[in-house]
Amino acid sequence: MTQPLIDPFQRAITYLRVSVTDRCDFRCVYCMSENMTFLPKKDLLSLEELDRLCSSFVRLGVQKLRITGGEPLVRKSIMTFFDAMSRHLASGALKELTLTTNGSQLDRFAKDLVTAGVKRVNVSLDTLDDKKFADITRWGRLPQVLKGIDAAQAAGLRVKINAVALKGFNDNELFSIQEWCAERDMDLTWIEVMPMGDIGNEDRLDQYWSLKDLRAALAERYTLTDLAERSGGPARYVRIEETGQKIGFITPLSHNFCESCNRVRITCTGEIFTCLGQEGHSDLRAPLRTSQDDAVLEDAIRAAIGLKPKGHDFDYSRQDVAGRVSRHMSHTGG
Ligand code: GTP
Ligand code: 5AD
Ligand code: SF4
Repeated sequence: MTQPLIDPFQRAITYLRVSVTDRCDFRCVYCMSENMTFLPKKDLLSLEELDRLCSSFVRLGVQKLRITGGEPLVRKSIMTFFDAMSRHLASGALKELTLTTNGSQLDRFAKDLVTAGVKRVNVSLDTLDDKKFADITRWGRLPQVLKGIDAAQAAGLRVKINAVALKGFNDNELFSIQEWCAERDMDLTWIEVMPMGDIGNEDRLDQYWSLKDLRAALAERYTLTDLAERSGGPARYVRIEETGQKIGFITPLSHNFCESCNRVRITCTGEIFTCLGQEGHSDLRAPLRTSQDDAVLEDAIRAAIGLKPKGHDFDYSRQDVAGRVSRHMSHTGG
């Protein structure tokens, strides 16, 4: 019997997030600078290497696989990889194969994703205002994303909207975004903005909108009931009693959830980051490329997980941004 992956804090690692490209067709202001330098193709893991790596993790007990980027759907031939991963769903080893996307390419790929066994997608969307959407994504256009969401729902995918809570930007859309999600029968999760990467002039402290405050604003209008259910990710959910709608909160700043962390991340070059909020990482590309023996790769995976830190050190509470990490969110895929 293979031993499961357990980190130094006795947390079982069952959730793998894999970034398949550092590229994106948007340039969200809190995520990337406008002039990003992307990696040369030779540095990227091939689709075959990604398959070998993910399959090793599945053998070691990973049950949930989330494909991220950059924007995962801009990676060439990415459906080949989804199709390959679906064999782990068929065998029962993998419980969920899913992705986090900006939605721009869903119109093209929704049906193929369903064929590969994907049941739900998380779409990042911070505003329903055309002009604000163009401002925050720099290169994105809202109608294209809405068309993608339509296609996803028409293909039978469940859609969850991820919105980063940003003061002075979408605080006035709290109710309109929520009502729009309810009308379309989509789940909604709010995320606190994390200090990742140098993003130019934006000031994290000015942007930061604590989900404690957001929740209090919701509670002024609705009755909220905390739910025990989990999606395997870090969100905690409440139900709005008046509408039955479920809202998720991801609160790395206002309520740390590292204690229950079950995940690690792989970048498109085969680095493993065992914590989103720390700089530490190990290389899995060398063991992948130097040996065809999966035992070598599995030893490298176990060694990396043996170094997983307790959690992040993000902290805005002293009116300063502490615990910042230098890499952009697009590097590790959120
Ligand atoms: P579900 O499967 O729907 O629960 O999704 P998920 O929350 O696991 O994945 P998703 O890609 O939707 O994550 C949303 C965002 O939550 C990420 O982009 C990050 O901003 C944040 N997030 C996810 N995992 C972590 C984590 O381990 N630590 C921290 N600090 N933030 C995380
Ligand atoms: N803080 C919180 N969430 C972020 N995302 C990107 N950058 C940040 C950040 N600094 C979110 C995106 C998307 C997911 C991949 O990560 O909006 O939902
Ligand atoms: Fe896990 Fe690190 Fe995220 Fe905390 S910040 S939940 S330890 S990945």
